[in-house]
Amino acid sequence: MEHYNFTTLIIFSMPKKIAKKNSVRPVKSAMKREHTKKKDHEQSPKADKQKKEEHVHKGERGYAPLRGMKDILPKDGNDWLDICHVSEKVASAYGFSYMETPIVEQASLFIRSIGKGTDVVDKEMYIFDDKDGGKICLRPEMTASIVRAYINHGMQTFPQPVKVWYMGPMFRHDRPQAGRYREFHQFGCETIGEHSPVVDAELISVAYNTLRDLGLETSVHINSIGTLEDRSRYIVELVGYLRTKRSYLSEDSKYRLTKNPLRILDSKDEHDRAVLEEAPQIIDWLSDDSKKFFTSVLEYLDEAEIPYVLTPTLVRGLDYYTDTVFEFYTEGTEDGSQSALGGGGRYNGLSELLGGQATPGSGFSLGMERIAHAVRAMRNGNNTIPDGEAPIEQKKKSGIFFAHLGEQARKRTLYLIEELRRNNLTVHHNLAKTSLKTQLELANKFGVEHTLILGQKEVQDGTVLMRNMDSGIQEIIDQKKIAQHVRKMLGL
Ligand code: HAM
Repeated sequence: MEHYNFTTLIIFSMPKKIAKKNSVRPVKSAMKREHTKKKDHEQSPKADKQKKEEHVHKGERGYAPLRGMKDILPKDGNDWLDICHVSEKVASAYGFSYMETPIVEQASLFIRSIGKGTDVVDKEMYIFDDKDGGKICLRPEMTASIVRAYINHGMQTFPQPVKVWYMGPMFRHDRPQAGRYREFHQFGCETIGEHSPVVDAELISVAYNTLRDLGLETSVHINSIGTLEDRSRYIVELVGYLRTKRSYLSEDSKYRLTKNPLRILDSKDEHDRAVLEEAPQIIDWLSDDSKKFFTSVLEYLDEAEIPYVLTPTLVRGLDYYTDTVFEFYTEGTEDGSQSALGGGGRYNGLSELLGGQATPGSGFSLGMERIAHAVRAMRNGNNTIPDGEAPIEQKKKSGIFFAHLGEQARKRTLYLIEELRRNNLTVHHNLAKTSLKTQLELANKFGVEHTLILGQKEVQDGTVLMRNMDSGIQEIIDQKKIAQHVRKMLGL
């Protein structure tokens, strides 16, 4: 397990070459040193690679985010907010209440919940020594935090089930690549206090419809891994079979055979896949109750016309799951768990594991960066997840621009902009500019269809001009009815 402390972090982010204050070096010897350095550099590709990595880390233009962490830039800001708004709208409509938990928690919360032997706990947790002596971590996911909060705040006394949604950053120190970051964001929903198949179907429906409202057609990969007892019996059978084929397995899977044999089921290695074709399937080891429960979840999905793919090898990478497990894929992202847009499942044993009463629970989380990539790829007519570099299509024309001419107009503009904002209208403007030409150029850059123009004369008349940016035709409107006119123009 990798451990970090704040000193390590500081060292990570410190520029390697800090100019020593007052240090003066003779030009000649400095040049000689530069020359030697260049030679070393040319001779060693390893040094070259290391230097490149340092460069990426430090950034060509000074400090850069840590590896695997990203800024959300203004050009992507609206797309990001769309994801937030749609998620909020769907979760609220299904009766989920918003909740937050701290980003930093006790490390043992996740080690217990997710389980030793999983990639998240064994390799990916950001763990620090707290100043008070304990081990703390940046949360790698939020389900354990929500269940912790459920127990801490006595939520079992609330009307059941407790339905909550959340959104926020998670941290996993994995090897960064397209769609996989060290800081990423999740939107998720959890329903705690009800063991019913309709709860699982509802959660799948919330995730599925959130993605659909964002324009993504997805299919749900689904399986049942039964109760803890079902799973224990199955693992004995699976390990027995895999031992007979041990020599054909990849090194990773050989290691997992003793550590976490279920994870071998979703190995991508072609030799492992060949061995798995003949492996016993978990579905045959489910108790009658678990089978009935799973069949019922599928019936609800059929009824709701949500497409799903029965996936006997789907086990998920976290230990707390029982019964239903599922993942969401969109076309072109079905080649591995790394590109799942989201996943979830039931976790009936988690509350007890964390010291609470036995309480059933179920939930899902969607990866917001992966959704943003998929939305962008869909717009660009490309279904594979790009590396975030594809240009984003300009957002369709929205809102209105407000231009002013003269000091009196500038003062009145501030008042009118607020009037429009109170009416839920988006107003682009730049009050610092004085030239009308510059402001109209800006309006074109924002891509608005109409610009409101307020000059000295309009201030005195109590009017404002509404200019159609394509035709140049201008209409005089009454300031008192400004919101009404703008709404009409925008077709709202
Ligand atoms: P998870 O499968 O670990 O489940 O993560 C859910 C989603 O978060 C993934 O499908 C993916 O979209 C996104 N994600 C995970 N790791 C990364 C990463 N390194 N970079 C970018 N995106 C990532 C959970 O976290 C569970 N808490 C889900 C759950 C909720 N189960 C029950 N309730």
